[in-house]
Amino acid sequence: MKMSEKLNIVIVGTGYVGLTTGVVLGYLGHRVTCVDQDMAKIDKLERGISTIYEPGLEELLIQSAAQVKFTKDLLRDLVDAQVVIIAVGTPAKENGDTDLSYVEAVAREIGMAMDVLKPPLIINKSTVPVGTARRVETVICEELEKRGQGCHFSVASNPEFLREGSALYDTLYPDRIVVGANDINALNLVRQMYAPILEQTFNPPQSVPRPEGYSLPALVSTSPTSAELIKYTANAFLATKISFINEFSAIAEKVGADIVEVAKGVGLDRRIGAGFLKAGVGWGGSCFPKDVRSILFTGSQYNCEMPLVQAALEVNRRQKLKAIEKLQQLLKVVRGSTIGILGLAFKADTDDIRESPAIEVIKTLLEMGARVKVYDPIAMKKYRQTYADQQVVYCGTAEDTASDADALVILTDWDEFLHLSWAEMGATMKNKVIVDGRNMLDREQLQQAGFTYSGIGR
Ligand code: UGA
Repeated sequence: MKMSEKLNIVIVGTGYVGLTTGVVLGYLGHRVTCVDQDMAKIDKLERGISTIYEPGLEELLIQSAAQVKFTKDLLRDLVDAQVVIIAVGTPAKENGDTDLSYVEAVAREIGMAMDVLKPPLIINKSTVPVGTARRVETVICEELEKRGQGCHFSVASNPEFLREGSALYDTLYPDRIVVGANDINALNLVRQMYAPILEQTFNPPQSVPRPEGYSLPALVSTSPTSAELIKYTANAFLATKISFINEFSAIAEKVGADIVEVAKGVGLDRRIGAGFLKAGVGWGGSCFPKDVRSILFTGSQYNCEMPLVQAALEVNRRQKLKAIEKLQQLLKVVRGSTIGILGLAFKADTDDIRESPAIEVIKTLLEMGARVKVYDPIAMKKYRQTYADQQVVYCGTAEDTASDADALVILTDWDEFLHLSWAEMGATMKNKVIVDGRNMLDREQLQQAGFTYSGIGR
């Protein structure tokens, strides 16, 4: 087997992880089939239209069109596949546990249809609790036994670390690739699949250039169980790191320090690192909240308390309401006031609103009797669809949102908000009050424009 040999890869699930991985592996030269049950998605993808908002993805989708096909039918392409990647959703259940029904359904189909003489390597890329690689193996075996066949195949765990909004960058230039596999052939196949990334032999796409000084990523080979736990440890750690700086933002405010300065002074210590030390209105998204609850659930199953992770969750719950506390301090009476919300997405460069701080803030403001105007450059459509019953005023621009408002609240760190003409916007407001929930604006510039400025922890 040559490292440069291209593989036949089937990817099941075209969410953030599946679609990004499929398009990138196709771009690297592999022959990829992306499978999804949702025909509307497949239709769009076949026409070169991205089904998720992700900078650069559509461009790459078109560039790799010859290598990537889309289908609803998993079984047809399974026969020729050397690798099958499971990247379907793993939603949270009410009790924090993870719903593995989609993963298991795919495993069952694989067991029903795979070629036993040339079994593909099965790779779990969905974020799944410890033991899922084994569970997938069991389910496939059950189906093979029904067919009177033995269980000769491998399941590897290959957790994904991409961030929404920089999914292509993270996939092409990762810090590391983690592979949990029990046999050397499986490990070698994964190495072959990622060889162009591990060795950086591909021509970077125009929209995602290789960063200067980027060094080759490590391939971390572990047991499947360790790989599964690495994913949760990483996300729980990052979430805790943000909650940690958010906790210190409160004491910074009390003593008159600036948390941005504090984070800079702390982050330059290489043992700590500067990333994920931005204080703000709390973490959201489809991963941190779900994964933190999921690992707490796993901990509880093993009678293993995780007080630090529990505290990170609690700090975050409170942090999401910081903007409300600030409005109460600044306006005194919130009922009857008009509040302009800038940003609905859980972070910039995505239209994803899942567990976004905006949801909690807007709901609370409405309950408190405020009139709420909102604007987001990308996520407004999703918000409107999801919260159709909410009485909020949707604005076409940040300027419209400011007009007649008693206060503005920034909840998402969109670049666009850095370039607004604050003096002009302030002139149309009832009160020039701004709560900068992302510490992204220049306080002095805002104060010069006549604003009462309040950041988080400064
Ligand atoms: C996160 C991880 O960063 C990825 O490594 C992981 O693959 C992914 O979850 C996943 O498990 O799928 P993502 O949720 O896309 O990625 O977004 P992040 O950039 O990590 O941001 C998460 C939240 O933390 C956002 O609400 C963001 O605004 C907030 N945040 C981030 C802060 O408040 N401060 C920071 O310094 C950094």
